[in-house]
Parts: sequence; structure tokens; C-alpha cells
Amino acid sequence: MPTELRSRITGTGSYVADGVLTNQDLERIVDTNDDWITERTGIKERRIASREVASSDMAAAATRNALEMAGLGPNDLDMIICATVTPDRQLPATAAYVQRKIGATSNCASFDIAAACAGSLYGISIADSFIRTGRAKHVAVIGVELLSRVLDYKDRNTCVLFGDGAGAMILSADQGESGVLSTHLFTDGSLTDILHIPAGGSALPTSAETVERRMHYVRMEGRDVFKYAVKYLADAAKVALDANAIGADDLSLVVAHQANIRILDAVSKRLGISLDRFILNLERFGNTSSASVPLALDEAVRGGRVHSGDTILMIALGGGISWGSAMVRW
Ligand code: UT7
Repeated sequence: MPTELRSRITGTGSYVADGVLTNQDLERIVDTNDDWITERTGIKERRIASREVASSDMAAAATRNALEMAGLGPNDLDMIICATVTPDRQLPATAAYVQRKIGATSNCASFDIAAACAGSLYGISIADSFIRTGRAKHVAVIGVELLSRVLDYKDRNTCVLFGDGAGAMILSADQGESGVLSTHLFTDGSLTDILHIPAGGSALPTSAETVERRMHYVRMEGRDVFKYAVKYLADAAKVALDANAIGADDLSLVVAHQANIRILDAVSKRLGISLDRFILNLERFGNTSSASVPLALDEAVRGGRVHSGDTILMIALGGGISWGSAMVRW
């Protein structure tokens, strides 16, 4: 009897710009210092894309890398899902630009999703659903952010945290034992205001006043987000472990959203999983929101930290507040 269809991650890729913004650089821009940033976040530097680069350029580069690893061409893709809160434009979808830039034909459905830092996990869940039901064979799930375009470099509460980057995963239909075992997604819409960009959308369109009041930049109640991040990331991990009857000790690797080393440390303690088993790259890239998980996964794969048969837990949380998990057998 044939086994059920699963989606397997057959390729990963990433892209970060060459431009590096260090904590020392930030000391010259806002009232901050390397000691504070390092101690409170674990971040030392982040990448900043140059002015002519758009999110779709970084996403396309990451997707090309992922396709190459998967041994596929752009026309093998049935779907391109681009998770981003920094799209090229309000209209059309950034995924459509990615489709054009990688040279995929119109046999591919391309659309964006906005679940902030949890976006790539929402993307995996959507791709997995299409693949399991036989409606797609190969799907590109991309997380990309050009956060430097929406950061207020006069606001030390936010501008020191984020960076630009892209990560991509190719999910392909398979019938083996490996692949996506589960996804779980959550949103608490009562918490929309603790992490948002106030203006530039239909609720508050751009005007001279919104620009004057710097309302097109990210605003965050950091302490509140921190508190929810620790609780909900740990909860999401527990739901994923329980759903798959997997013990914390059986996890090979945790690929968690790279927001703050103190959040990851607290989550690791709650779960009883040593930080050694977490992929950590926030020191070099900061918080890249939607790109964070696929970028970290790609580093882990290319760095030889992922082996066939490994059980990998991905968890992320961001604006919404939205969060979730994906459990994967490699
Ligand atoms: O990706 C989406 C998810 N996002 C997150 O998960 C972020 C979650 N939040 C955090 O990671 C932390 O809350 C932050 C890193 C944003 C802030 O750390 P904190 O330990 O919560 O600091 P705080 O906001 O409580 O601020 C403590 C002090 C304040 O000064 P006073 O009022 O005690 O005098 C801040 O004004 O640190 C000050 N401060 C800074 N000082 C130097 C805030 N930002 C800075 C800064 N440099 N960049």
C-alpha cells in the first residue's frame, strides 16, 4: 500500500547583503552602546542592503540557491509563497516579482503572506497542505525582509534589533518517512498594537502628517513582546512535541526565530533543551523577521549540522502577535 504524501524540504538557500552595520556603527547614530546591545540582545552586527536592492532581489537570490540544492529549475515550481512585511510594493505581490526574476512561467501561483517573524512557518504550513492533498508538487517558501527600510534610526528601542536578509526552502512531494511531520499556527489579534507600523496602510494612509510623525516605521513595546515570546514559543514547542509524541531529548535541532538570545535562553530552559541544540546566528544577522528561520536553517544545512533522519523543531513569533511551529524529520 502506498504511504501518504508528505512534503520534504529538498533545498534551502539564503541571501544576505555585504553591508554590515555593527553595534559600534549604531553608537554613532543613536544613543546606544555595544555593551547594552550585546548584553540585552546578543546581537553584534546586522546586514543592510544597498539602496537599489528590493526584497524580491534578495528573495530571488535565496530561491535560486534553494532550487539548485533541490536539483530543480524555476519551472518545476507549482507555487511561490513569499512571507514578508516589507514587500517591494503594496501591489502586486513580491512573490510575483520573484517569479519573474527567477524565470518561472505562469504555471506557478505566486502570492505573499504577512505573519511577520512567524511568516516562514505559515508558509511551510500552507505549502504542506497543498502538497499533502496532491495539489502541488514543488513549492518555494521564502522569508524575506528589508527591515532597514521601515526602521526609525532615531528610535534606539527598535533600530538596533533588526537586519535585512532572505531565506528560502523548497518543499517537494514525497512518500518516504521524512518530511514535515506537523505544523501548528496561532495568532492573538488582541495584541496587534504591541508590534506594528502605524501608517501607510488603509487604516492610516500616507500623508504629510504621518511622514512628519515618523509613523511609517516599526514601533514595538519590547518588554511586552519579550514576555509573550518566551511563553508562546515554549508553548508552541510543547504542542509540537506532544502532537508527534516526541520527547525534548529526541530533538536533534531547534531552529527558532532569532530575536534575542535572552528569549532563546529562557525558552531553552522552559523546554529543558540545551542552547547547544539551538541554531544561533542572531549575533551576525540580528532579527531578520520572516527571513530568520529559513536563513538559520540554510546555515545549519550548509554548515553540516543537519543529517538524514534528524528531528528538527522550528518555532517563531512576531507581529500579530502570530506564532507557530513546524516539526520536520530530515
Ligand atoms: O521579532 C519579533 C519579536 N520581537 C522580539 O522578540 C523582541 C522582544 N523584546 C526584546 O527583545 C527586548 O524587550 C528589547 C531588546 C527590545 C529591549 O530589552 P529590555 O531588556 O526589555 O529593555 P527595556 O525595553 O526594558 O529598556 C531598559 C532600558 C530603558 O531605559 P530606562 O527606562 O531603564 O532608563 C531603555 O530606554 O534600556 C533602554 N534602552 C536602551 N539603552 C541603550 C532601550 N533600548 C536601548 C538601546 N541602547 N538600544
